[in-house]
Amino acid sequence: MASTTKILFIGGTGYIGKFIVEASAKAGNPTFVLIRESTLSNPAKSPILDKFKALGVNLVHGDLYDHQSLVKAIKEVDVVISTVGHMQIADQDRIISAIKEAGNIKRFFPSEFGNDVDRVHAVEPAKSAFAGKAKIRRAIEAAGIPYTYVSSNFFAGYFLPNLSQPGATAPPRDKVVILGDGNPKAVFNKEDDIGTYTIKAVDDPRTLNKVVYIRPPLNTYSFNDLVTLWEKKIGKTVERVYVPEEQLLKQIQDSPPPANVILSIAHSVFVKGDHTNFEIEPSFGVEATALYPDVQYTTVDEYLNQFV
Ligand SMILES: NC(=O)c1ccc[n+]([C@@H]2O[C@H](COP(=O)([O-])OP(=O)(O)OC[C@H]3O[C@@H](n4cnc5c(N)ncnc54)[C@H](OP(=O)(O)O)[C@@H]3O)[C@@H](O)[C@H]2O)c1
Repeated sequence: MASTTKILFIGGTGYIGKFIVEASAKAGNPTFVLIRESTLSNPAKSPILDKFKALGVNLVHGDLYDHQSLVKAIKEVDVVISTVGHMQIADQDRIISAIKEAGNIKRFFPSEFGNDVDRVHAVEPAKSAFAGKAKIRRAIEAAGIPYTYVSSNFFAGYFLPNLSQPGATAPPRDKVVILGDGNPKAVFNKEDDIGTYTIKAVDDPRTLNKVVYIRPPLNTYSFNDLVTLWEKKIGKTVERVYVPEEQLLKQIQDSPPPANVILSIAHSVFVKGDHTNFEIEPSFGVEATALYPDVQYTTVDEYLNQFV
């Protein structure tokens, strides 16, 4: 049965937003996306907007920085999903204010879609970026707004096409640089699957006021195991060059943005193991593949085949 829950997206035309919007429309949810004037006239965005129109998505004019437009859009729906980018994370307090004023929202999903920001061991600048998301969590909880936080771990499209080798456009065939000792386990999820699981969580009482972790067993790999999988696919061994943590920390300090941001997130995940170094306790979280075993997610093994 198609869901009748009306969903408003803020940031729906962004990298991850478009996948979740599509999943929402395909699940039958009446789907609304807040669109700025400047986006409507941006040729780079027209393929996304055309796709939304073909899917029956409603485009609503508005802006995160226009309070009345936010309240008006929010009053028309049941659930708000924010997928704004890192520059707007702190400004989601404007969404919280608008949700409070509108008074009708059953669930808010703030822009998360990464590490569980309450359970990270990060250095700067990732540390402050994660803290910004945690601050929004605390504001949502203080306002008494029902919520779900989606911890989707890594977007496959960001890390698998080059096995996380900065600047590379394909996975390495001769030499691979591994941060740390390559043993902590990370999680890589295809963006369409992140969309599917997020939308499944919208109407689910089990995900209310919880963190939904997307941690599929078949997508959980240490860097060493990921390289071994890739080596099997290409039928040859790849030289492994390990970067000790001390050297990585120095590299982070010496790098300008955005390289230092990317490296510090990689440090949290590949060196500290922040995707998997804690148990998901029922008091705060649920795991998506356990909740929705019917979803046929794309595995890392399948995903890598396209690059062989
Ligand atoms: N786990 C991972 O591997 C990973 C990787 C990257 C990001 N993330 C996380 O995913 C989340 C989304 O990031 P993203 O990279 O997908 O974002 P993004 O591509 O930068 O998209 C940002 C969205 O916000 C919209 N926006 C910007 N200013 C706005 C305003 N004033 N009013 C309304 N909308 C506005 C943009 O609209 P336009 O389309 O008009 O510009 C766009 O739709 C973030 O929390 C980020 O940290 C996770």
